[in-house]
Amino acid sequence: MASSWHNLRIDIDRLRADIETLSKIGRAPDGNLTRHAFAPGYEEARRWLKSRFAASGIAARDDAAGNTIGRVGPETGPTVMSGSHIDTVPDGGPLDGAFGVLAALEVARVIKEAGLSPPRGFEAVAFIDEEGRYLDCLGSKAVTGALDLARVAKAKAPDDALLVDAMRGAGFDPARLSEAKRKKGEIAAYVELHIEQGPVLEAKGLPIGIVTGIVGVDHSDFTFYGEPDHAGTTPMDLRKDAFTGACEFVSRMRKMILRRGTPYTRLTYGIVKSKSAAANIVPFEIYLKQELRDTDQKLVKRLVKASYKLADKVAAEYRLRVEYAHTTGNTAALMAPRVQDIVEDSAKSLNLPAHRMPSGAGHDAQVIARVADAGMIFVPSEGGRSHRRDEWTDWKLLEQGANVLLQSVLRLMHAA
Ligand code: GLV
Ligand code: MN
Ligand code: MN
Repeated sequence: MASSWHNLRIDIDRLRADIETLSKIGRAPDGNLTRHAFAPGYEEARRWLKSRFAASGIAARDDAAGNTIGRVGPETGPTVMSGSHIDTVPDGGPLDGAFGVLAALEVARVIKEAGLSPPRGFEAVAFIDEEGRYLDCLGSKAVTGALDLARVAKAKAPDDALLVDAMRGAGFDPARLSEAKRKKGEIAAYVELHIEQGPVLEAKGLPIGIVTGIVGVDHSDFTFYGEPDHAGTTPMDLRKDAFTGACEFVSRMRKMILRRGTPYTRLTYGIVKSKSAAANIVPFEIYLKQELRDTDQKLVKRLVKASYKLADKVAAEYRLRVEYAHTTGNTAALMAPRVQDIVEDSAKSLNLPAHRMPSGAGHDAQVIARVADAGMIFVPSEGGRSHRRDEWTDWKLLEQGANVLLQSVLRLMHAA
């Protein structure tokens, strides 16, 4: 059998049809593809995904957290796992997450059709809410038992919708979330295929990336409070302008990151809200969502702490009040050298040059890495674009990546 499975390949026509179909589910007539976890578009995608497993005679189920899992090979015992997510950022692209899930589905189909009887099972998984509308990597955290249930109860979206309500609306009981946790040793290994979402592979002209580690991410909320005075009558030195204070804070944060960070440090204020709704009122309440990333988790922690200290300092200077709190995040993780080597062997067996690189994007793989050997395969992203609707990768590159995934999974399934 060893010689036969080495020759197996994915069917790009079938994978392409799935990518094209899923990219239309939840897409608005104006082209906006927004599939938030547990929203109607997501639930439609979930039903469709399960129908695709069923069409190939593959058993699929939803777990208590809302992850969707298809399994081939032995029904019980340790499993090799591959997956990603089918939720998207607002107005996102067709490949971020979806490619990894649909390639894992394709791998399951190839294994099933080949009639292999490997010693381990293989599971293809769509993890819920990787994009963190409510809680970053909710699904993979539930699987690994890494969920803080007190935080789950409070988790809410930028529009204040509660996670627990969204779950109930989709037919899931938040009180049963912890039932999604897998037993120790049940996940034998994990490998995730994803678009790079950055420019490195394309610039190097290489088809495959082998991820060495994934950044840690901290999300913190800041609210600066001032006074809603008359914009015309209140002298500049007497007003308590929350927006000016928030701007000063952001500007000093940027300088601090450039001074104290590494080439992998990232600082972003992706959500900024003002309570004032008129040009002639001094801005009195400004909300900022801060995202801080680095491959060094200790540095992330230090910089977050420094950001809280700086917020206090700037607020005092601008005579404002500030509140801040950590909300969610992901811990930085190294990918298992064993899985990296298996991905490299698989790429070599397909004559595909590969490049080892860290990931600046967060992924479910960094959560699964807490309980199992985990690794990731990247394919290039056109123009390095992602988290936008024109994110794309050439079909040939997608096919090559999916074949590296197939060969990596087969090696992991047969590994001692
Ligand atoms: C995942 O999409 C991330 O935010 O890195
Ligand atoms: Mn993703
Ligand atoms: Mn994403």
